[in-house]
Amino acid sequence: MISIKGLTKKYVTGKTEFYALDGIDLEISDGEFVAITGKSGSGKSTLLNILGTLDVPTDGSITVDGVDPSKLNSKAIAAYRNKTVGFVFQSFYLEPSYTVYDNVELPLILAGKTGDNGDKVGAALEMVGLSSKSGEKARTLSGGEQQRVAIARAIVNDPAYILADEPCGNLDTANSNNVMDILCNLHRSGKTIIMVTHDAEDAARAHRIVTMSDGKIVNDEKTA
Ligand SMILES: Nc1ncnc2c1ncn2[C@@H]1O[C@H](COP(=O)(O)OP(=O)(O)OP(=O)(O)O)[C@@H](O)[C@H]1O
Ligand SMILES: [Mg+2]
Repeated sequence: MISIKGLTKKYVTGKTEFYALDGIDLEISDGEFVAITGKSGSGKSTLLNILGTLDVPTDGSITVDGVDPSKLNSKAIAAYRNKTVGFVFQSFYLEPSYTVYDNVELPLILAGKTGDNGDKVGAALEMVGLSSKSGEKARTLSGGEQQRVAIARAIVNDPAYILADEPCGNLDTANSNNVMDILCNLHRSGKTIIMVTHDAEDAARAHRIVTMSDGKIVNDEKTA
């Protein structure tokens, strides 16, 4: 469960203060599929990045399963990124010269699991429909396939939360639908999904839509 109270991210440039997040209150229960929408600059990535320990707030509180991700030391951050959250980005950030298998295995290696990871990597690749591409170099894959590899990499450690920042932002309609199907399947399998999107159709596939404007939540509605 995620509990956010008064979450604030303030930037100060000279005498100007700018609130990327301006006092966000939000609770997300286990097993929810939440879409975060809102116009460019409204604070969506800032919120997701704080949840993923890629950024820290300037005020307010945030707990994920009782832990405040912004207060972890570097060792605990590594464990949190490995076990609690899996992050999927708009630009996939794969290692282009590594094979698909090695890209997906990377979080396991970073977590110190250097033994035979074949079962875990295989299961993650099967989940995204890419078992047959395991030995290919990542750079030879299409954009849609690369994003599916990135999803496999995000789930290989079996995190409870999937954080996805415009996962379909660089994909055409067919590939977007494929990625959305995978996120829906992950949700069905019990994951909590928090997805930033500009696309109303993609947002409608979530069960709750949170809309942001100028660093605030201006609407929060269930769709199902
Ligand atoms: N280092 C920084 N210094 C000053 N302002 C910043 C900094 N980083 C982000 N911002 C501002 O914070 C605001 C929120 O940014 P954020 O990336 O969260 O928006 P977003 O909703 O994800 O937008 P988009 O849809 O374009 O991805 C933006 O106006 C941005 O310019
Ligand atoms: Mg963004």
